[in-house]
Amino acid sequence: MESMTRDPAVAKRAAGYKAAEMVKDGMIIGLGTGSTVMYTMERLSRRIDEGLTIAGIPTSFQTAIRAREYNIPLTTLDDHPVIDLAIDGADEVDPQLRLIKGRGAAHTREKCVAAAAQRFIVVVDEQKMVTCLDGLVPVEIIAFAIRPVMDQLLNLNCTPILREGVKKDGPVITDNGNFIIDAKFKKITKPEKLEASIGLIPGVVESGLFCGFTDKTTVIVGGEKKCRVIP
Ligand code: A5P
Repeated sequence: MESMTRDPAVAKRAAGYKAAEMVKDGMIIGLGTGSTVMYTMERLSRRIDEGLTIAGIPTSFQTAIRAREYNIPLTTLDDHPVIDLAIDGADEVDPQLRLIKGRGAAHTREKCVAAAAQRFIVVVDEQKMVTCLDGLVPVEIIAFAIRPVMDQLLNLNCTPILREGVKKDGPVITDNGNFIIDAKFKKITKPEKLEASIGLIPGVVESGLFCGFTDKTTVIVGGEKKCRVIP
């Protein structure tokens, strides 16, 4: 394994660019959210200038805005409910390729797009690779149900914290008009079970646990000289 790259931006760029090279002419691509996928879009933009024809489905306002700046044609899940490929970042990746996502509060749309994709490429730097998922699990909820959802998350043995805005007073409002609770768990030994349990709480829209896509997932871990591709 290549030692951890000092500058995460170098690793993110390497992973993002490599994913962009896997895109083939005519594909419909899910465009994830976050700093690593921005590099994928940067490279896709150049490939489009060179003649590549694709359309992207953005998973957030951030991605849609950047895609337009990069002249990446956009489409929707209404027009393409099944897509060729989704490319996205992650906050944590475990050895079974289960993920935690949602640092940027975009995980609900990201999960919809990943579910629609025949293949899911996850672009990360080495710091995201963990032996056991144990970070904050972002949970998008409807504001109406904040109190009972908080109580039921407490019953799952986590510390739930309402995510507050930066340069915005009060709670973060997602692109879907909802709140985010960051649920701090200790080690997550059964992520599939936890994803299902959180999903059953009335008022929860979606959690940032991504356990259902491992069969179609490829992880690209960026490095200074080369990328590691798993599996
Ligand atoms: C967006 O809500 C997240 O799921 C991001 O995809 C994830 O946090 C990875 O972001 P970076 O590539 O910026 O680390």
